[in-house]
Amino acid sequence: MTVEMDKIVSLCKRRGIIFQNSEIYGGIGNTWDYGPLGVELKRNVKEAWWDAVVYRRDDMEGLDAAILMNPTTWQASGHLESFTDPLVDCKKCKHRFRLDDIGGAACPDCGGELTEARSFNLMFKTFVGPVEEEAAVTYLRPETAQGIFVNFVNVQKMMRRKIPFGIAQIGKSFRNEITPGNFTFRTREFEQMEIEFFVKPGTDESWYEHWVDQRFRWYLDLGVNRDHLRLRTHEAHELAHYAKACVDVEYLFPMGWSELEGIANRGDYDLRRHAEYSRKDLSYFDEATKERYIPYVIEPSAGADRATLAILIDAYREEEVRGEKRTLLAIANRLAPIKIAVLPLLKNRADIVDLARKLAADLRSEGKTVYDDTASIGRLYRRQDEVGTPYCVTVDVQSLDDRQVTVRDRDSMRQVRIPLDGIREYLKKCLATGGLAE
Ligand code: GAP
Repeated sequence: MTVEMDKIVSLCKRRGIIFQNSEIYGGIGNTWDYGPLGVELKRNVKEAWWDAVVYRRDDMEGLDAAILMNPTTWQASGHLESFTDPLVDCKKCKHRFRLDDIGGAACPDCGGELTEARSFNLMFKTFVGPVEEEAAVTYLRPETAQGIFVNFVNVQKMMRRKIPFGIAQIGKSFRNEITPGNFTFRTREFEQMEIEFFVKPGTDESWYEHWVDQRFRWYLDLGVNRDHLRLRTHEAHELAHYAKACVDVEYLFPMGWSELEGIANRGDYDLRRHAEYSRKDLSYFDEATKERYIPYVIEPSAGADRATLAILIDAYREEEVRGEKRTLLAIANRLAPIKIAVLPLLKNRADIVDLARKLAADLRSEGKTVYDDTASIGRLYRRQDEVGTPYCVTVDVQSLDDRQVTVRDRDSMRQVRIPLDGIREYLKKCLATGGLAE
C-alpha cells in the first residue's frame, strides 16, 4: 500500500514543494502552486520527458503552440459537441457527482435520490477583445494536442519530415472539472506532455504497441516501483470521441489505481476534421511510393502534474533511525529538486563558514546546490532527506587542516571523506551513477 495523501500534502506544504493557490483568500477549488522546490521537481520531470521523447530520438520535433486558438478548432476537434461529463445532483444533500464515478443509482454520500444526468461541457469559455459577445467567444484549450494538429503541415514541410514522425509539446491545459480532487491529481489548470505521432495507415497498430512500451518504460527509468504501475486497456464505451483504441498507464495512488497517462490511436480523425473545417489540404504525399494519404496518429498523452505527484508518492519513505523517525524522499538523482547541500558543522566559526560557502559556490555548476547553517547538523540532514537531496557535504574543523570534507549519501546514510580538490569531480560521478561512487 502506498502512503496516505494527507502525508504528501503536509510534506509538500512544510517543505515548499506545493502550496494551495491564493491561500490567504481561502484558496480556489483545487488549484495549486508549485513552491521553490516543487518548481524544480516538476521542471526535472518535464526535462526527463523531453529528453526521452525528443532528444533521444531522430523522429521527433518540438512545438510550443498558444493556449488560445481560433474557436473553429474546437468545432473541428469535436470538443464543443462531445467534451462533456454527465452530471447528477443529489436532491437531498445537494452534492454533485460525475455519473461515471458512482456505482449505483443513489447518492454515495447520503443515499438520497439523484437527478437525471445532464451533460456539462468541460471547456472554459472566454472572450477575445473588449466586447463580451458571441462572435468573440473562444476557449482555453482543454488539451495541447490541437495546437499540434493545426501545425502538422507547417512542421512536416518546414522540417522536411517524412512519415513516420512525431511532434512533442508541453503546456497548460484547462478543464472545468466538476469533481476535482485528490490534491494535484485532478485540477482545473494542469500541464500536459503530449506527443502526436503521425504514421501511415496500416502501420498504426505496431506504432501504438511501440509507444505503449516506450511510455511504460519511461516511468520505470525514473525509478517508479514496477508493482505500482500497470497498463489498462479501455473498454469500447470508455473511449474518447476521437479514439480507435486507448490504453492507460495507471499508478497505484493512495485512492487506488488511477490514470497517469493515456496512449490513444486517434486514427485520422483529427487531421480529417481539420481539413474539412479549414478547407485546407492536410494530406501527406509519399514521394517514394507516390501515395497520398491522411496520416493516422498515435498519441501518448501524459500529465506533468500527475507524473510529479506519482513520483513524490513513490519516493516517500518513513524509517526509524536510532529510535527517531526519519522521513525521506528516495527520488532519482536527476529528479531531485536540490542535488547537493553544503552544511558547516559550526556556524559560529568564520573560517568553516567561509570554506563551506566557497565550496557551495563552486559546486553550483553540478546542479542546484544550497548552503544551510540554520540548525544543528542532525536537523539539517533530516531537512534535506525530506526533500530528497541525494548528497550532503559537511565542512568541519578537521576540514581546515586536512582539506577534506564529508559526503553523506541520503538513502544509505553512509559517509565518506573526500579531498576538497577532487570533490566536484567526485560529486559529478555520484550524481550520474547514484549512491556513493568508489
Ligand atoms: N489529448 C488527449 C488527452 O488530453 P486525457 O486522457 O484527457 O487525454 C491526458 O488527458 C493526460 O492529461 C491524463 O492522463 C492526465 O495525466 C492529464 N490530465 C487530464 N486531465 C487532468 C486534470 N484535470 N488534472 C490533472 N491532470 C490531468
